[in-house]
Amino acid sequence: MTESTPGGLENLLSEDRRFPPSPEFTAQANAHADVYSWADADRPAFWAEQARDLLDWDTPFEEVLDWSGAPVARWFADGQLNAAYNAVDRHVEAGNGDRVALHFEGEGGDTRTITYADLKREVSKAANALTGLGVETGDRVAIYLPLVPEAVFTMLACARIGAPHSVVFGGFSAEALYSRIVDAEAKLVVTADGGYRRGAPSALKPAVDEALTKGEHPVEHVLVVKRTGQDVEWTDERDVWWSDVVDSASDEHTPVPLDAEHPLFILYTSGTTGKPKGIFHTTGGYLTQAAYTHRNVFDLKPETDVYWCTADIGWITGHTYVVYGPLINGATQVIYEGTPDTPHRGRWWEIVEKYKVSILYTAPTAIRTCMKWGEEIPSKFDLSSLRVLGSVGEPINPEAWMWYRRVIGGDKAPIVDTWWQTETGAIMISPLPGVTETKPGSAQVPLPGIAATVVDDDAKPVPDGAGGYLVLTEPWPSMLRGIWGDPERYADTYWSRFKGLYFAGDGAKKDDDGDIWLLGRVDDVMNVSGHRLSTTEIESALVSHPWVAEAAVVGANDETTGQAVVAFVILRGDAAGGSESADEVQTTLRNHVAKEIGPIAKPRQILVVAELPKTRSGKIMRRLLRDVAENRQVGDATTLADSSVMDLIAQGLSQPGAKQED
Ligand code: WT7
Repeated sequence: MTESTPGGLENLLSEDRRFPPSPEFTAQANAHADVYSWADADRPAFWAEQARDLLDWDTPFEEVLDWSGAPVARWFADGQLNAAYNAVDRHVEAGNGDRVALHFEGEGGDTRTITYADLKREVSKAANALTGLGVETGDRVAIYLPLVPEAVFTMLACARIGAPHSVVFGGFSAEALYSRIVDAEAKLVVTADGGYRRGAPSALKPAVDEALTKGEHPVEHVLVVKRTGQDVEWTDERDVWWSDVVDSASDEHTPVPLDAEHPLFILYTSGTTGKPKGIFHTTGGYLTQAAYTHRNVFDLKPETDVYWCTADIGWITGHTYVVYGPLINGATQVIYEGTPDTPHRGRWWEIVEKYKVSILYTAPTAIRTCMKWGEEIPSKFDLSSLRVLGSVGEPINPEAWMWYRRVIGGDKAPIVDTWWQTETGAIMISPLPGVTETKPGSAQVPLPGIAATVVDDDAKPVPDGAGGYLVLTEPWPSMLRGIWGDPERYADTYWSRFKGLYFAGDGAKKDDDGDIWLLGRVDDVMNVSGHRLSTTEIESALVSHPWVAEAAVVGANDETTGQAVVAFVILRGDAAGGSESADEVQTTLRNHVAKEIGPIAKPRQILVVAELPKTRSGKIMRRLLRDVAENRQVGDATTLADSSVMDLIAQGLSQPGAKQED
């Protein structure tokens, strides 16, 4: 079991605050208490009904679930549909073309209102332009864009022609972008000159230019959205402006009917080894669970709600709960390009007030940051429109939960703490508003149609009140269909720890009521501000610097970001001429990691040490390093090959200048 968990959540099982749904909320809720029993009675039948109810099919399916090729599931496999048709056209055909799909708010305050009819035109034009650039059904398209409407248009244009997209978060480096382009064999990259970040234009295209000089690649064209008007370098033949090819394209386009198991997208995420995994999702099952969960977990009423999920489209949350879930459901939503504190710390609350946002979905790290800034900031705005609050990405500590409920939700909006992963595609464990009595800090119960439990080392379900590992015991519609190009790694990573069970990588406990509490990762994966980072990947980045002989990275508890990256490095004897100060070494290496992976992976601290604690078999004992990083008494070190190492590290760190933060 995990030795330490973010926020020390294992001590919080005595939580006895309870928030039953109000009778008024329950009376109008989409979800009803009896749904659990009927979904449990026949899971595939439950999902088949959702698939028929929530989606329009070009060819209706007869087959529901085929699990004969486990661990690769096939859902609704003989059916055909198109994701973009379901997200856009059918709403226009149903007479809702004038409904706002996107309220875009730029960081600098520029806005754009896009109705479903507008969206249909924009997506059709983009689809025609992609086809004009040689993209065909089955080809992959890399998307490296800020959160601007064109990002949504491009994703849906890809879906419309059946070209799986691979969105790469704009904060990733040229190196990271290059490896993702090559792994997915993307033919086209869609990017922008730049985006706005903390009040200033921040360039994006240079990273694409640099990525495409790193080696062989299959990219034929780079499609460039003009967002900031920054100067860009131009490669004739390869680069094309969005305004040249999309704006002039026809706004008539027929969506391509695709098999339910046609890949919809690839999204890379960090695993326990150095190389990011291309998680891929297909169409019918993914869309079914995206739509079902979005409608029921957020109690969406498409005619009246204004929904806002603060995630970037570079993460799975942006795929499922900015693009596919809300648009399939015909929702009106806000998308915001910028950061919560630009130009002031009330920016988010100003947006909630302005658009009368009724459903807000964000991450605990953001809530904790706002708590730190003080409640007088949100209190200046009218937040009375909010009626459902969601949380995702990491465990939410009860204190932040209570603050979210009281200060943002006016003590009335139910909070849904939603557990899921890039791999699960959609929400798996969460309360249902109007049904579940909520508890601060616990994601509580698997959704209807989902089978999750907590098991011990021998794969036996633990009794209430005990801890272990979170596993999923039955296939679900939006489950990943694999790791792009590496079926073996898929089986090894998720299905080998416990036979026949999907192992999520999270530690969890069941409380006395049988509710699930997530306790953080038990593998070498860190969760920083709800973003997944791999210790090994950052270690590889560090040792790729000529000064570094060896590196060990751990995720240490952090009040705001959940976990923070702390690196221990051994410098080479001849490194850096020895004249650099600890400060310079730290800055250089932090920047090096940012360049190799992206600024999100920058270690909070880099500690130069003379030795690393290792077992006799040479495995680094990260547990001990985490104790040091969290200023704890160092735990049991009896399995160390050399027991004096920890003393050495402790002594070294107590010297002035050795341990610094910024
Ligand atoms: C990991 C998945 C799901 C979208 C964002 C992150 C952690 C996620 C919760 C939650 C406790 C959570 C888990 C999981 N996680 N949601 N509500 N409570 N932990 O997606 O990058 O694929 O990361 O995030 O550790 O395994 P991701």
